[in-house]
Amino acid sequence: MTSGQNQRFALTTPLYYVNDVPHIGSAYTTMAADAIARFHRLQGHEVLLITGTDEHGQKIQRTAEQLGKDPQVHCDEIVASFETLWQRLNIQYDRFSRTTDPRHAAIVAEFFQRVWDKGDIYQGQQKGWYCVGCEEFKEERDLLANQHCPIHKRPVEWRDEQNYFFRLSQYQEALLELFAEHPDFIQPASRRNEVLKFVEQGLQDFSISRINLDWGFPVPGDDQHTLYVWFEALLGYITPLLEPDAEPTLANALGKWWPIDLHLIGKDILRFHAVYWPAMLMSADLPLPKRVFGHGFLTKDGQKMGKSLGNTLDPMALVHRYGCDAVRYYFLKALEFGQDGDFSEARFIDVVNADLANSLGNLLNRTLKMAVKYCDGQIPDINVQNLPTDHPLAQLGREAGQKVATAYQSLNFSQACNICLSLAKAGNQFIDEQAPWSIYKQGEYALVNQILYTVLESVRLSAYLLSPVIPNLSTQIYQQLGFQLDLNVHHGEDGAALYSVHSNWGGLPVNQMLGTPQPVFQKLEPLQAASP
Ligand code: MSP
Repeated sequence: MTSGQNQRFALTTPLYYVNDVPHIGSAYTTMAADAIARFHRLQGHEVLLITGTDEHGQKIQRTAEQLGKDPQVHCDEIVASFETLWQRLNIQYDRFSRTTDPRHAAIVAEFFQRVWDKGDIYQGQQKGWYCVGCEEFKEERDLLANQHCPIHKRPVEWRDEQNYFFRLSQYQEALLELFAEHPDFIQPASRRNEVLKFVEQGLQDFSISRINLDWGFPVPGDDQHTLYVWFEALLGYITPLLEPDAEPTLANALGKWWPIDLHLIGKDILRFHAVYWPAMLMSADLPLPKRVFGHGFLTKDGQKMGKSLGNTLDPMALVHRYGCDAVRYYFLKALEFGQDGDFSEARFIDVVNADLANSLGNLLNRTLKMAVKYCDGQIPDINVQNLPTDHPLAQLGREAGQKVATAYQSLNFSQACNICLSLAKAGNQFIDEQAPWSIYKQGEYALVNQILYTVLESVRLSAYLLSPVIPNLSTQIYQQLGFQLDLNVHHGEDGAALYSVHSNWGGLPVNQMLGTPQPVFQKLEPLQAASP
């Protein structure tokens, strides 16, 4: 039995609204979630990555009406476009949660009953400004001029109706205790502080039903009311935990994978996940998720992205044009996860070309060619243990695995990538300085072997540790180094043993036959340059 074999990790992306085809914001969270899931699988952990769609509510109902479509038909079409995008982005999700899944209705009804039995649901009058885009009531003081939503820039609607309410106010103390006892529950720290302030100011009960809305679940026992979309959507993290043939009960769902280790979300939906959701679970006497991470927002060329500005970024077009590893790499390496970040095509091309084509790809290619010439196309035979302690590549390589692991664990993708890149850059510098081609001419073959081994090993280790981010490229690099290992494949129980060899310096087996040197990454051309 290898260590780590029994470790489990469950994580979720948000369940995306299906009012439109997926946008880059959804792709961003999903790429990050996939990288984390892959990093855990790489270590031999058992992983459950849940993504999915949030399909009910006024926003979706109105979209379908405007398109003249049955809402379910509309949802099915949009879901198909999410599935296609995830496939193109090489996202390895385990479960796709749809809130229109018939099993979800049963889970929601049972959960509602538990909260009802607790005495946390009552009827009251809801008056206020509602933004259908956000599916949320807004405070008057937060609105723009003429009662416009600050996020959607569209008019909010006045509502004055009988609703069912959830006693959120009862959970203020318990939530503050949770945040104090589990300082890592909300990350990053800046977002934790925001939430803390919000809760300290006092919590108001929130309405969990709507009238004049058909597209959703009726409130159990009162079908004049439809459940508020957020109240049921969050439970969409629980329904997919059911095994395919299991009876849809909470007891069956909340087995092996609950509580979820990590909810990855954007900062705009932090309050729902860090305040409403734990309070709802406390009310139902269920264990709480371990961590909620709210990442930043993407802008394009320094401007907020939006349909009204006409500057949205289509993730499908981006992958089609540049390939999935380039897209994954840019968003995870070039932006600080947790903070807002910008996309500009020029920077995208610069970063990807500098890192993947030049630093990593070229280094592999030129070193492989030398190994073909000087070492009969094999990994040079050296004794890694005998490398000088101050060998620059060995020094970096020995600590890379642990450092990268820590970076992934704290969702610092940019740092993980930078550590790998510095190894590749050091490899480039080393080979330039050492000039093995002239050492070979002097007949110092043992030294040539040592230089080429350490450079190839630097490329290997970088590629391996980058594989959660650029799995196809890493696999290609591995193949050229003569490995049969497909880094897109989860090796189950053998994973932990493989990880302990491959994440460490010296994992390159001597005398392994190398593949034929071929460029692994073609430089990207800007779109403008490509057209006549
Ligand atoms: N349906 C809810 C989530 C329910 S979870 C039980 C929802 N869906 S959404 O499709 O509108 O948003 C999904 C995610 O996309 C959110 O995490 C949001 O932060 C993210 N983004 C939307 N626009 C974004 C950017 N411009 N940049 C980065 N992420 C953004 O909310």
